[in-house]
Amino acid sequence: MSSFYLSNAYQPPRAPEILLLKQAWALLGNLSPQAFMRDYWHKQPFLVRGAIPAFAQAKALGHPLESPLSAKTLLSMACSGNCEARLVQSKPWRLTDFGSSPMRRKDLPTLDLPNWTLLIQGVEAHQAAAAKILSWFRFIPDARLDDLMVSLAGKGGGVGPHSDSYDVFLIQMAGRRKWSISSQSDLKLRAGLPLKILQNFKAQQEWVLEPGDLLYLPPHTPHNGVALDAGCQTWSVGFRAPSYRELLQEGLWRLAESLEDIPALKAFYADPQQYATAHPEVLPQELIKQLTKQLKSLDLNDINQFLLGISAYLSEPKPSAFFMQPPQALSYPQFIRRLCTTPLRPHPLSRLICHQDQVFCNGENMTQAATPLTQGLWQSLAAKQIITPLTKEVKKYLLQQPSLGHLSNSIYSAYAAGWLIFEPFG
Ligand code: SIN
Ligand code: CO
Repeated sequence: MSSFYLSNAYQPPRAPEILLLKQAWALLGNLSPQAFMRDYWHKQPFLVRGAIPAFAQAKALGHPLESPLSAKTLLSMACSGNCEARLVQSKPWRLTDFGSSPMRRKDLPTLDLPNWTLLIQGVEAHQAAAAKILSWFRFIPDARLDDLMVSLAGKGGGVGPHSDSYDVFLIQMAGRRKWSISSQSDLKLRAGLPLKILQNFKAQQEWVLEPGDLLYLPPHTPHNGVALDAGCQTWSVGFRAPSYRELLQEGLWRLAESLEDIPALKAFYADPQQYATAHPEVLPQELIKQLTKQLKSLDLNDINQFLLGISAYLSEPKPSAFFMQPPQALSYPQFIRRLCTTPLRPHPLSRLICHQDQVFCNGENMTQAATPLTQGLWQSLAAKQIITPLTKEVKKYLLQQPSLGHLSNSIYSAYAAGWLIFEPFG
């Protein structure tokens, strides 16, 4: 197999700067993102043949495309110790989680062996092609995005019939995979296995996916994917959905923490009106009265108070995310000068969420009390994932008045922490 455009390995295109939400997209079977979201998202499965048309076009020209990531690259990623990787063997079922200790090449089967699958999570943090493919799905809120997982399998490999709590786009990138799905309600699991495998999976629809095809599955759709070719690759773009309990708990405890910022609440409970009581064991009416007043003054019905905490929570990076400070960090003036020539982007593991005019990055509000200029820069980072080179005027302003640029400094400190990087992946 040779790669498209002569010897260059296939690089998927960049997503357009502005996503055209009402136009037909090949990625969505010529539906617009708007129609896809209305008719399929979180509702029903959707199969797209030729979602990445370059694969079929190249095949027709007699030069089939290779996946942007070779099997060798994926195997070395699994052995690098920097990625979450799991090995699933299917005859008999076995799961090896290499979460804590890195895989060794000799722990992994060779491509010619059958019945195994290697799963690598968070590939977008390490590979530009994966980050680009994620960017195609930015018609779905960033708050819902989980990550891009790549599976590499030997013939017959798969993780068994199961259902996920995630929305997922399964994109076939190398070899063929047979997908079976069902709408059964029997979700009983087989006992005594290290994996969650359905006991009575009854396939109702089946398709063989070729490179470039895509299958979207809403959560809780029983499904089973079996590799038909050695070196089969499926890229899964997964979208998380937290439980209401999780959202409310996370929002409420952040709201509780934010009470630290209200100096008036430091005052002590005072009860000069307390009367003599015949029931000392009972919670005092005076306390109840005063707390009612305090709670009212917090205006807990104002959803925006609560949504600041929710935004902070949803912008938290994955627990496995690891940011490295730039090896030779630039000083603040050097940083501003570099911003005039080089685009700055979020690190692929950074999460940015906006609520109203506030921007949260990796769990922190970066725009609290920001100058409008800095707020604008953070908003650009969140919306377009880029700060384009600064103009001379902006540069002069930021260099002359570094103390005014409190939030420019927060952009600088985010850069110094490795949360923002100059043009990733070259
Ligand atoms: C795979 O790619 O083999 C597993 C994806 C899934 O079924 O969720
Ligand atoms: Co699944």
